[in-house]
Amino acid sequence: MTTFSNLYHSTLGKKYLMALSGAGLFGFVVLHMLGNLQVFLGPEPLNHYAVFLKSKPVLLWGARLGLLLLVFLHILTGVQLTLRNRAARTEKYDRTKPYKASYASRTLVLSGAALFAFIIYHLMHFTVGLVDPAYLQLRDAADRHDVYRMTILGFSHPGVSAFYIASMALLCLHLSHGVGSTFQSIGFKNKQTAVWIDRISKMLAVIVFLGNSSMPLAVLAGILK
Ligand code: HEM
Repeated sequence: MTTFSNLYHSTLGKKYLMALSGAGLFGFVVLHMLGNLQVFLGPEPLNHYAVFLKSKPVLLWGARLGLLLLVFLHILTGVQLTLRNRAARTEKYDRTKPYKASYASRTLVLSGAALFAFIIYHLMHFTVGLVDPAYLQLRDAADRHDVYRMTILGFSHPGVSAFYIASMALLCLHLSHGVGSTFQSIGFKNKQTAVWIDRISKMLAVIVFLGNSSMPLAVLAGILK
């Protein structure tokens, strides 16, 4: 217990926790995107998939609570590490520190805060139905929740789609710095691997951006109806 508590209170322990929670959230983002991309296959696969996800309440709520815990740990350790970093800098301000590192961490904090706002809106939009309560009443021919129509209707508003695409650009920025930081925290990033880790981080971030943005764009372009 003491070892665990010591690790949690140490900067290294917090970095590990932040890296692990970030990796878990990244896994969710990729799986969620792959599930949502079934919208291109038509209403049947997407609505079937949505019913499947909700068919085991214990698993669904277990996953939701796990996700909430990951978000909480990621934000908590992020804020704590940023404050520690700032305190260390004001105590011993070092002009020789690379500008790149502070730019990356500032980007992570700002894009992270904006993403949190996006997630709140997104849950009100598609999960809780606060933006338009009619979305949750939509039914398909098999009397399932019509997630396909909800997605099309949701992205038919150009302002809403623009907000999603802008948020996905921020997610791209967050991931392109965050994935690299994760590898740094767990000690995988060194002179030899740095170039490749940065390239792979950027590539993954761009894939997530293109995959997620393709949905609102396809609705606006009339490809998805
Ligand atoms: C354009 C991209 C996205 C689309 C089309 C989309 C679509 C959806 C839909 C349709 C639902 C409701 C599913 C249902 O009730 O059956 C949902 C839920 C959710 N989405 Fe997204 N999503 C997108 C991006 C994201 C991103 C980037 C995140 C996180 C950073 C995210 C996080 C969530 C969460 C946490 C839920 C609630 C899941 C639950 O029911 O517990 N989504 N999304």
